[in-house]
Amino acid sequence: MASLWQEAESLKRLVIDTDTASDDATSLMLALRWPDVRVEAITTVAGNLPLQACTRNALYTVDLAAGRDVPVFPGADRPLLRDLVTCEEVHGQDGMGDSNFPPPRRAPEPEPAPAALVRLINRFPGELEIIAQAPLTNIALAYMLDPSIAGKVRRLWVMGGANNALGNVTPAAEFNFYVDPEAARIVFRAGFPITMVGWEICVRHTVFGPPDLAEIEAMGTPLARFYLEINRAVLRYNREHGGIEGTSHPDSVVAAMAVDSRVIRRSARCFVDIECTGELTRGYSLVDLLGVTGRAPNAEVCLEADRDRFRSMLFSVLRG
Ligand code: RIB
Ligand code: CA
Repeated sequence: MASLWQEAESLKRLVIDTDTASDDATSLMLALRWPDVRVEAITTVAGNLPLQACTRNALYTVDLAAGRDVPVFPGADRPLLRDLVTCEEVHGQDGMGDSNFPPPRRAPEPEPAPAALVRLINRFPGELEIIAQAPLTNIALAYMLDPSIAGKVRRLWVMGGANNALGNVTPAAEFNFYVDPEAARIVFRAGFPITMVGWEICVRHTVFGPPDLAEIEAMGTPLARFYLEINRAVLRYNREHGGIEGTSHPDSVVAAMAVDSRVIRRSARCFVDIECTGELTRGYSLVDLLGVTGRAPNAEVCLEADRDRFRSMLFSVLRG
């Protein structure tokens, strides 16, 4: 039996920054339900939806999946400089497959997310891993409030960008980096210990097709039903517009990697920067795989994920 100290040592402590829609909620479910993981806080930011809807969806997911109160701190309701771009067409008007869930049980915290991030990171230096699965506005604001946090975060997991691959908003850009490219640039230049997981990893290694969805439906558990409800809009969008025959999991594969690093099959240390002025390439993530820029690597970039391990992890959570 591990001592309390050893248990505390083995406990992985996460803060998740989210623009909570379909796959964000799936990611929250996995992290909230995974053994030996404690989600210390959730911070919300505008992206998939306006901030209030992202916050509502995060609170509802905590009610359904956490089994305890996890504080939710609302953050930025728009990008640093640009107008907000949302994508209800992908996830449904409520971001949760137009399931019209009842209002969440609890209210969000009064403390703004960037201040909460600074406070928590300074309270647990070297212990917290941050999953950033949304536009990086909150992370950039927290860093500008207190630049020392870049050296106090155990790991910053970033779902964003595309590693020399097709984007999902424009051919050049993935949504999170497209919405707030300035925030992404600030974060990648700040010195955080970043692991970047691009959109191409999601498309190549995480899609659940009809057999997978049939297996989830056959589970008949509350979390399996919730998963199918919240992902039905993105399933339709993927089929009709995305050229993807199934549900996609950009955020939840990052949560799986954060709780079990074996989900990362291959990665490489690269220099990464984000385009902020390009008319056609706004949000493009330059990933210097060839090392030709002469710039020092600033991120571990995931090159391949273990689909089977990810699938079995998420399925075990949905089975409850
Ligand atoms: O491009 C995919 C990312 O943008 C995901 O995090 C999705 O939730 C949206 O935020
Ligand atoms: Ca997201």
